[in-house]
Amino acid sequence: MQPRRLSIPGRFLRSLLSRHGKAVVNMAGSDAAADLELVNRVRGRTPLLLGAVPALQLLACVRATGNVPGVLAEAGVFAGGSARLICEAKGDRALHLFDVFETLQDESTAGGPEAAAVRSHFQRLHAREADVRSTLAGYPNVHFHTGVFPQTAAAVADSRFSFVHLDLDLEGSTLAALEFFYPRLAPGALLVADDFSSAPVQAAFHAYFRSRTATIIRLPWSQGIVVAASTGPAFVA
Ligand SMILES: C[S@@+](CC[C@H](N)C(=O)[O-])C[C@H]1O[C@@H](n2cnc3c(N)ncnc32)[C@H](O)[C@@H]1O
Repeated sequence: MQPRRLSIPGRFLRSLLSRHGKAVVNMAGSDAAADLELVNRVRGRTPLLLGAVPALQLLACVRATGNVPGVLAEAGVFAGGSARLICEAKGDRALHLFDVFETLQDESTAGGPEAAAVRSHFQRLHAREADVRSTLAGYPNVHFHTGVFPQTAAAVADSRFSFVHLDLDLEGSTLAALEFFYPRLAPGALLVADDFSSAPVQAAFHAYFRSRTATIIRLPWSQGIVVAASTGPAFVA
């Protein structure tokens, strides 16, 4: 590719942005411009906690696993913004969604240590399952597993996963999700972790992968992508 010469204002803008930890990406004329429109459209309709670049990356990873056998999952759904993006790219493939939604909003102490950690971190900040169901009603093959993960995972224990999005914020939840999903990834599957550079997510990844060999791509916008070995990790259905 020919190097492009930037005008003086262009060079100034680029250097100013990079001093603030930002970069310019030229997406004009590529498919990514349509994806950016899609991200903006989804954000206009549904609260979305992902920035534009991680959202584009999410779409690309869902599409990249189109030929990998298995179902898709998202752990950490909140109002369904990222789930909606996944739905836009998944086609007819099954998507399993895991979140407590509003189920921890009473004062009960039931649910064990995972429930206590979720309650204490998110407090009253939860979306209602009924609202998320209605947000995703137009997409086929979407399945809700409402309650505290990993207890809710039993229903899909015999599944293989082609794509997993982890966005749980908490160390304990993320570690439980790695323990559940990683051995169930199909060869060539992708597991995308949001907030990858945050201390709790890093702690969970270090704990889980300390004694394992895995290809993990650390992206500069705090996403991490685990690429499942093409020979397939040991898993007996
Ligand atoms: C950051 S939000 C997800 C945001 C969403 N992916 C998006 O981009 O719009 C994290 C969610 O994880 C959920 N969560 C965290 N730990 C959980 C657990 N152990 N079981 C079920 N849900 C959990 C919280 O209820 C919260 O809704």
